[in-house]
Amino acid sequence: MTTVLDKPFDLVLFGGTGDLSLRKLLPSMFRAFMEKEIPSDSRIFVSSRKQEDFDNTVSKIKTAFKKFMLKDEFDEKQFKQFEQCIVPIIVDVADYNKGWQELIPYFEGREEVSRIFYLAIIPSIYGDCCENIDRAGLVSKNSRVVVEKPIGYDQVSAEAINQKIAEHFEEEQIYRIDHYLGKETVQNLLALRFSNSLFEQFWDSKSIDHIQISINEKVGLEGRAGFYDGAGAMRDMVQNHLLQLLGLVAMESPNKMGANNIRNEKIKVLQALRPITGDAVQRYTVRGQYVAGNVDDKLEPGYLEELGSGTSLTETFVAIRANIDNWRWAKVPFYLRTGKRLKRRSAEIVIQFKDVSHNAFGGDAGPLVPNRLIIQLQPEERMQLLLMAKDMTQLKTVLKPVKLDLNFTETSQGFKSFGYKRLLLDAIAGNASLFIHRDEGSAAWHWVDPIIDYWQKNDVVPHLYRAGTWGPAEADELIAKDKREWIDIEA
Ligand code: BG6
Repeated sequence: MTTVLDKPFDLVLFGGTGDLSLRKLLPSMFRAFMEKEIPSDSRIFVSSRKQEDFDNTVSKIKTAFKKFMLKDEFDEKQFKQFEQCIVPIIVDVADYNKGWQELIPYFEGREEVSRIFYLAIIPSIYGDCCENIDRAGLVSKNSRVVVEKPIGYDQVSAEAINQKIAEHFEEEQIYRIDHYLGKETVQNLLALRFSNSLFEQFWDSKSIDHIQISINEKVGLEGRAGFYDGAGAMRDMVQNHLLQLLGLVAMESPNKMGANNIRNEKIKVLQALRPITGDAVQRYTVRGQYVAGNVDDKLEPGYLEELGSGTSLTETFVAIRANIDNWRWAKVPFYLRTGKRLKRRSAEIVIQFKDVSHNAFGGDAGPLVPNRLIIQLQPEERMQLLLMAKDMTQLKTVLKPVKLDLNFTETSQGFKSFGYKRLLLDAIAGNASLFIHRDEGSAAWHWVDPIIDYWQKNDVVPHLYRAGTWGPAEADELIAKDKREWIDIEA
C-alpha cells in the first residue's frame, strides 16, 4: 500500500524544535518533499516553547538536516522551497494561555484539509495538549493525532493517558506510532507470509522448531539517562517493538489487509501469549546490565558510569522465552532478545524449521542442518533462506548448507526506506494499518507488567555483561536449557 498525497495538508509538530522532530520527523518530511510526494502548498507548523527557538526555527532545522541526514542528501535549493512550507509557532502545549489563541486563525476555513497533530512531547502532557487542541476548536472531522511511545509505564498508566486522549479524539483519529512498523522489511514480512503458498503451508508448529526475534544495539544511553533509567529495556523495547514483530510473525491471515483486520489479528496473538508470572519469571526471563567493555575496539563506559549514579537495577538487556497458547503455535518457543551496547547492531527474525523426518543420506554425507529463514531488518534489509544442497565441488555426495540471499538494500536500486517518513505519510493520508490500536498496547502491557513487577518486588539484580558482547551468559543458558542456541546470522 503506497501512500500518495494528492491534497495539501496541515501538519502540526508539537515539540517541533525538539530532538525527535529535528532528527527524524522534519528530515522525513524534507525527503518526501524532495521526492515530490507532498503537495507544495502543504503547511508544516513547527512549535517551540522558547522565544529563542521560535526566532531561529528555520536555521535550527537547516543545521539539523545537515547534521542528521545522509551524506550528500541535503540540497540547498530544495531546502529554499521546502522552507515555504514551514510555519514556526510559539506555544506552550500544556498551558492554554500561552500561544493557543494565536493558533486558531491559521486553521479558519480549512476544515476540509487533513490536519495532523504530532505530539513529539513527553507523554505526561499528551492529555493537556489534546485538551488544548480541542478547546481551541481545532479538532475537525479531518483531524488526527499521532502519539509516540512510551504511552505510560504500565497498563494502568497507559490506560489513563489513552483515556485522556480519547476524551478529545475518536479511536480512529488516534495514531500510536511504533517506528519499527515503518521499516520496509517489516511490511515485507506480511507480503512474504501471505502471498507465498510455500510459507503458508509451513508456518506452524508442525514445521517450525522455534523462532528468535532479536534487536541488538551498539549504542548506550545517548544522553537519555533520565528517561531510560525509569524505563529499562522491557518498557523501551519489548513492550512495543519486539511484541509488534512477534505479533506480525505469529498472526493469522486477515481476510483483507485493512488496518483493523491486521490489528485485530495482532491483538489475538498478544492475548494468547502465555503469562509469565511468579517464579516462572526467574525461569523464562533474563535481566542484564552492561559494564564497561570494548565496542569496535573503543572502550565504552558501563551503564552506571554513563548514568552517573552508583546504583540502579534498570535492565539494559532482556532475554525471554515466550509461548503462544494457540493451535498454530503450541509448543513452539519464541525467544526474544534485546540489549544496548552489544557486539553488533542488528535486528532480525529467525524462523528455525524442524529437522527432516528421516536422513536418507546417512552419516557420510555430513550432518543435516535444518532449514532456516532469516528476516533481517537492519543494518541491511534482507531475507535469507538456508537450505541443504549437494557440495558441487566434489563428485562424492556431501551435503552442505547454502543460502538463498535476497538483499533488498542492494536490489532496490538505491531505494532507502525511512520508517518515520513512511509512517508520517500514512498518518497524513489516514492509513492506520501500521499504527497501534489502544487494545494492542493494553494487551502488550498486560503481558509485560507481571515480569517487571516480579523484578521490582524481588529486587532482581540484573546479570552483568561486558559492553561489546552478546549479553550475559545467563541469556545463553536460558536457550541452552532447551538444547538450542542464539543464532548469530553473520557467523
Ligand atoms: C527506540 C528506543 O524506540 O528505538 C531506543 O527508545 C532505541 O532506546 C531505538 O535505541 C532503536 O531504534 P532503531 O530503529 O535504531 O533500531
